[in-house]
Amino acid sequence: MTEFTQQHGVREIRPKILFQQIEERNPDRNVMFNVSIPSSAIGGMTLLESSILVSLASLTSASIFFEFGTYMGATSVLLAANSAPHARITTVDLPPASIDTAKPDSDEVTLILQNDIENDNYLRRTFAEKGAFYIDRADAETQNKIKRIYHDSRSLDPQAQDLAGRFDFIFIDGGHDYDTVAIDTTNALKMAKPDAVIIWHDYRSKIHGDVTRFVDHFSQEIPLIHVQNTMLAFMLKGKFRNLLPN
Ligand SMILES: C[S@@+](CC[C@H](N)C(=O)[O-])C[C@H]1O[C@@H](n2cnc3c(N)ncnc32)[C@H](O)[C@@H]1O
Repeated sequence: MTEFTQQHGVREIRPKILFQQIEERNPDRNVMFNVSIPSSAIGGMTLLESSILVSLASLTSASIFFEFGTYMGATSVLLAANSAPHARITTVDLPPASIDTAKPDSDEVTLILQNDIENDNYLRRTFAEKGAFYIDRADAETQNKIKRIYHDSRSLDPQAQDLAGRFDFIFIDGGHDYDTVAIDTTNALKMAKPDAVIIWHDYRSKIHGDVTRFVDHFSQEIPLIHVQNTMLAFMLKGKFRNLLPN
């Protein structure tokens, strides 16, 4: 493996860069993964994105996961279903009772597909109304790996809540406004182990421009990687900085 020399900025890679790493480490076996048929609902992950998350978890041997934004729980279940028996996934979303469930007066579908704030409001409302039903429907083994926290992520205190320095893999996919992504990232940096991966969803989303603005800005301090044909960007910490070839 060659030294990863990117100083800053967002480097774009093809998905196959990660898949090649998986192949190199598993020359004699088929590497399978377990995934639900993608949800037709707004706010879910694509199959390619799911495969990238599972690949990153595998390449970093992650077993302690944290997710900002539980929503339907599909990604919590994905990570639980594709990790070691001792793996644990902690996922945070807002206390349902704190969420304003009033719908906008005008055409809801048009609004949520065009407006970032309305889209986030829709995701919160859906979570308040339906909960993380992918977790509710999962088998007991999968459910036992997942811990749900109900808390506004903007007021998490990693030190006080015993979350600091504990996680191998952190997925940031909660509120998509600039301030929330910035606060979640600051907390993620405190919560990550020295060797860890931190991933953002909705990078280069057509709706959530603030995520792109934040990630581009943050990449001026820390080199980040974007996987083409996905809305994933990630940061490799510690020994994982050398995970990918130049
Ligand atoms: C895009 S969805 C998450 C999708 C999920 N990560 C997945 O991959 O299936 C965003 C979620 O973030 C939650 N959220 C928004 N603002 C939040 C906040 N300040 N604290 C915690 N959760 C928040 C919403 O309620 C919503 O369920």
